[in-house]
Amino acid sequence: MAYEPRRGDSLNKRLLAALGAAAVALSLAACSGEGAGSGTDTANQAPTDLTIGVSMPTQTSERWIADGNSVKEKLTAKGYKVDLQYAGDDIPTQSQQVDQMITQGADVLIIAAIDGTALSSQLQAAADKKIPVISYDRLIRDSKNVDFYVSFDNYKVGVAQATALLVGLGVLNKDGSEGTAKGPLNVELFAGSLDDNNAHFFFDGAMDTLKPFIDKGTLVVKSKQTSIEQAATLRWQQETAQKRMEDLLTSSYNDGAKVAGVLSPYDGLSRGIITALQNAGYKGKMPVVTGQDAEIASVKLINDGVQSSTVFKDTRLLAEQAVTAAEAFLKKATPEANDTKTYDNGVKVVPSYLLPVETVYKDDIQKSLIDSGYWTADEVKAGQAK
Ligand code: GAL
Repeated sequence: MAYEPRRGDSLNKRLLAALGAAAVALSLAACSGEGAGSGTDTANQAPTDLTIGVSMPTQTSERWIADGNSVKEKLTAKGYKVDLQYAGDDIPTQSQQVDQMITQGADVLIIAAIDGTALSSQLQAAADKKIPVISYDRLIRDSKNVDFYVSFDNYKVGVAQATALLVGLGVLNKDGSEGTAKGPLNVELFAGSLDDNNAHFFFDGAMDTLKPFIDKGTLVVKSKQTSIEQAATLRWQQETAQKRMEDLLTSSYNDGAKVAGVLSPYDGLSRGIITALQNAGYKGKMPVVTGQDAEIASVKLINDGVQSSTVFKDTRLLAEQAVTAAEAFLKKATPEANDTKTYDNGVKVVPSYLLPVETVYKDDIQKSLIDSGYWTADEVKAGQAK
């Protein structure tokens, strides 16, 4: 690819470009990678000479838009160049975007993968050019070339969702003590996309928490669909969750039985589930539906008493961690991990920085989401981000 001088390119890069026609330059490019790449001495380069590639899965979910914006803003404020791309939940598009970031000289990659197993060859290309790779929120699997992982405590997210289901049903009180509801209560279970490593952590955490209550008959999964494969929702699609909930209502609740609660691992799915329930005639006091991500449309539903809870993961803090890790790599240092045991990606345990999570019920919206500046009161009222 022809070199086009860009503002902020290092003197080295400009000199190299001047030699560009010569074979010697070609061979240099072959050893150290085209563009800056982390094969170069990034520790001594100004942020304006460095590019961070940020690959996000989709813009159909507002959380990833917030993540992308936060990462970009924080990096730009420090002077870095940012190449932010969304892949429209299409695996080949994400592979191509990451390939392009590498050939265009990214110095660090921050990637939230669509399919955690689909980026091995891109990551090998990055490793060949010594470009560090940070896995963002979703662990990239089956590759030794994942250098760091920033996420939340995903097992605890599942525990929090199951606990919120039990609290919503009155089986437990918020303080963890036994509630007044004794059951049997009909519940249905939803999981995320099987190609997303997180989906397994969420479901494991939830099932470890719910199983004792299922075993003693307090909770009844009337459809008997209790495995993650049965509960899974490909690509976390709202419509897919709505369709499955409709099918469950038709197949298992046509005898007049009522759904008391639904375990949902993500707000988008929760909205699909709620639509299916409402279309089937549920109104007023709705079944207890959980969630995750504090998406604004769902925060409104919680505020209106339609959805029961969500698990809030502050994407601003996650973005901050990703930026901290990226800067550490650029300075040729090792980013600080707070977990070096949990996230085995099938080839190695990836050093991780995990952030805490928080359950939000209606009563918590003011303190957790509005006072913290995550959403404004107006946004909550409207159910839309400004
Ligand atoms: C997961 C993520 C969740 C949710 C979901 C759907 O990987 O951890 O917070 O956003 O994807 O986008």
